[in-house]
Amino acid sequence: MGIRIKGTGMFVPEKVLTNADLEKMVETSDEWITTRTGIKERHIADKQTATSDLAYAAALKALEMAGVSPSELDLITVASVTPDKLFPNTAALVQRKLGACTCPCFDLEAACSGLIYSIEVAHSMMAANKKYKKALVIGAEKLSSIVDWTDRSTCVLFGDGAAALVLESGDEIEGDFYVAGKLAADGNYGDILHLPAGGSAMPASHESVDGKCHFIKMGGQETFKLAVTAMTAACKEVLADSGIAPEQVAWVIPHQANRRIISAVAARLTIPEERVYANIDRYGNTSSASIGICLDEMNRAGMLKHGDCILLTAFGGGLTWGAQLIRWQ
Ligand code: ACO
Repeated sequence: MGIRIKGTGMFVPEKVLTNADLEKMVETSDEWITTRTGIKERHIADKQTATSDLAYAAALKALEMAGVSPSELDLITVASVTPDKLFPNTAALVQRKLGACTCPCFDLEAACSGLIYSIEVAHSMMAANKKYKKALVIGAEKLSSIVDWTDRSTCVLFGDGAAALVLESGDEIEGDFYVAGKLAADGNYGDILHLPAGGSAMPASHESVDGKCHFIKMGGQETFKLAVTAMTAACKEVLADSGIAPEQVAWVIPHQANRRIISAVAARLTIPEERVYANIDRYGNTSSASIGICLDEMNRAGMLKHGDCILLTAFGGGLTWGAQLIRWQ
């Protein structure tokens, strides 16, 4: 039995927030944002749009490419730190929008590593149980809803967006897109990147709202250093496990958190930047959606060739991180 990625899709809201726009909102500059992060603009959803709407739009595109109808789906997962609600899960809300009842649906929360965690889980389910023939794997975020728009150290970094993959298994499919993977987490670093309120530890209250506890809190420099070390180590382990040398990697698709983090990881892997995909300039950090957005852009642009080894790597709150080597079919 083989497993393949049959379709990809992405969606970002229409509204673009440029660095020039941010200059009018907080004390910052296009020059600071560009040199420190590589971000020029990001897309921001309107008040009426929820994460499930972004996810749904990306899912429609992936399903269309795959030629799969919603009723054929055996599984829907959504990776997100910005679910529509604490429950029901966002995957079930997407299922309702798609009319895909009654396949199992669940959300997976691993912050910016959410998509690669989800790929690992969905792939494992499909490999273990033939019941799961067609899976919709989504990473979707409305990060603008948890950003403190008065905090210049975080508000310049994030954007909204969604990406979806349709995975398919079957006896007629040759080979498996998944070659090797490494997932990891270290909860000891949980406090350097988190959202304090809204859960059971700090339910919403007047105090939590007044204290701005419903917004992302981040120790930028510590996150930066850990991101580079952890992603590099995970990538090296995955390459060693699969017996693939850096020069055999056609593309690295890293989570898009900071252009400098991407460059530092590429340098440590000795993979030239021409083979490292980045679109952070146009979308900012879209957390669990970023790798999927890259993959869909590259796929639709015809940049991915049959047999290409593609190295995915991500890092996010938790702390969580990991890498995956996939082969394009
Ligand atoms: N505009 C202008 N100045 C700013 C801004 C801004 N937007 N933000 C911070 N500064 C100032 C700081 O106040 C500081 O000023 P000071 O020296 O007078 O105190 C100065 O710039 C330098 O600040 P640093 O934090 O040291 O800047 P750094 O070079 O580390 O860049 C950044 C900050 C971009 C946040 C970087 O640390 C980074 O990218 N870290 C990783 C972030 C990341 O990957 N996050 C993942 C989150 S995703 C998730 O899991 C949801």
